[in-house]
Amino acid sequence: MLKHAITASQLVKKPLITRKSVVLVASALLATHLNAAQSTDAIDPEAASGFTQKTAVTADNYMVAAANPLAVKAGYDVLKTGGSAMDAMVAVQAMLGLVEPQSSGLGGGAFLVYYDAKTKQLTTFDGRETAPLAATPELFQDENGKPLKFYDAVVGGRSVGTPGTVKLMADMHTRYGNQPWAQLLQPAQALAANGFAVSPRLAGAIENDKERLSRYPDTRAYFFKADGTPLLEGDILKNPEYAQTLATLAKEGSAAFYQGRIGADIVRKVQSISDNPGLLTRDDFAAYKVKERSATCAPYRQYDICGMGPPSSGALTVGQILGISAQFDLKSMGKDSSEAWQIIGDASRLAFADRGRYMADSDFVPMPEGLLDQNYLAERARLITPGKALESVSAGEPRWEKAVAMADDQSIELPSTTHLVIVDKDGNIVSMTSTIENGFGSRVMSNGFLLNNELTDFSFASHKNGYPIANRLEPGKRPRSSMSPTIVMKDGQPYMAVGSPGGSRIIGYVASTLIRHLEWGMPIQDAINEPHLLNRFGTYDVEKGTSAEQFKAPLEQMGFKVNVRDLNSGLQAIQFKDGKLVGAADPRREGTAMGD
Ligand code: GLY
Repeated sequence: MLKHAITASQLVKKPLITRKSVVLVASALLATHLNAAQSTDAIDPEAASGFTQKTAVTADNYMVAAANPLAVKAGYDVLKTGGSAMDAMVAVQAMLGLVEPQSSGLGGGAFLVYYDAKTKQLTTFDGRETAPLAATPELFQDENGKPLKFYDAVVGGRSVGTPGTVKLMADMHTRYGNQPWAQLLQPAQALAANGFAVSPRLAGAIENDKERLSRYPDTRAYFFKADGTPLLEGDILKNPEYAQTLATLAKEGSAAFYQGRIGADIVRKVQSISDNPGLLTRDDFAAYKVKERSATCAPYRQYDICGMGPPSSGALTVGQILGISAQFDLKSMGKDSSEAWQIIGDASRLAFADRGRYMADSDFVPMPEGLLDQNYLAERARLITPGKALESVSAGEPRWEKAVAMADDQSIELPSTTHLVIVDKDGNIVSMTSTIENGFGSRVMSNGFLLNNELTDFSFASHKNGYPIANRLEPGKRPRSSMSPTIVMKDGQPYMAVGSPGGSRIIGYVASTLIRHLEWGMPIQDAINEPHLLNRFGTYDVEKGTSAEQFKAPLEQMGFKVNVRDLNSGLQAIQFKDGKLVGAADPRREGTAMGD
């Protein structure tokens, strides 16, 4: 069994308040939190782009699966010429930043879970954005201390954190790469210079976000034609600035970004946005570091589900959902049982309550040690009554040596982001989720790429009734994420790599795909194709226009409020099966898998 990542020694020690007071305060605050979180869910900035039936792809030696075929081809070419999984990651990410600019890129951040075939070790790398050193917890509050409206905070320089993706690419290449860095950036550089055809999904995303994308002249000039109409599917888009940026990075490495001209340009741009300036300085770039962290692993049946610990809430929350659900016989209930979905939904609500109370950047805030303790999860499962939705849900009391009173979180996370999985010929595995946060991030462009709005993943409020919110903004801190890049282990061997975009719905997309595959035995592509049913804060989201709508009436009868809506996942997976690699991509996006 792999060890859980969070240890007492990692936790910041703070003055103590008794457990009893923690619980009393917490329960009083819960209802407010649920309303605050749920009220923003109607906004869906990265829109659905239809459903294209996909079938699994099989290979013998190496494989890449990502959200855009041009990016997949860039990674495939690297693997075919003997490049490592990390080499391919560099090529894929450079290409995604060009052809899927709304979801990730050089202006954003990423989490990467890595299995090293030689050492047989799993580890994770945190390339999450950091809050500016000059920022205060009140960054997203008005002069009366009231939280800003979400898009008033997002659009402009204020929401931009220090990007981590370039450093992650460079550090991973230095440590694990075997092909020349400049060669890996070259395909994206050439395509940026020569132009690429705008994909249906990108065209739809531009159309959907026309107003916000028009706010700043250079962003407008890039995503709109000379006559002011948005780019359409098939239009050829050139990005000479992006080509130049990659040429600079190819020659000077990540120093050009963190110590040199590119970072200086970003700082100037962010500070000079007249209607919503930001606080980034060159000191933030100079101080930026990718952090290696132990994988956070949760047992599930005969598997270990391993992923990204804090500042992501991904692996802990996925692990809690699986651990609580595993207390019930979901297998005999089967995937068509509304009772099974009630149990999974209530397990998710319980896990999200803990997430809202306790999970944040553990380099800055204390966190309980026992969030994945099996006894604790069994105790949480005992709250669930099969056939009847929980009437109310609040955070539990996991083992916590030095408990600190915390209020529930107030942060808003909306779906965008991208996921990629790569296996190289030596069996090294990359599972990486990469983001600029909202679709098109802050809508501010510099050097041919969009800048993130990751700081809006912090809670806009810092305290509630005098108690601190764990995910409050602090200088240098990393905002809590839901990204859940995952590697599933079985008997100490890698079994599968999987992940998804989708804001805080990422957690449910990953957890339910794992349940469908590991519990109900569905082939991985079928598990990804299945209609989504998701619960985060109490309202049950059911995927519109699919057979999942059959669960609406029974779930309502059990006491849930049901919301039928688009559920815009972008799952990618590679499974190790009978000596082969099986790749699967989400039919809801443009992804594909390719290998030999
Ligand atoms: N910005 C999406 C996430 O980090 O979860």
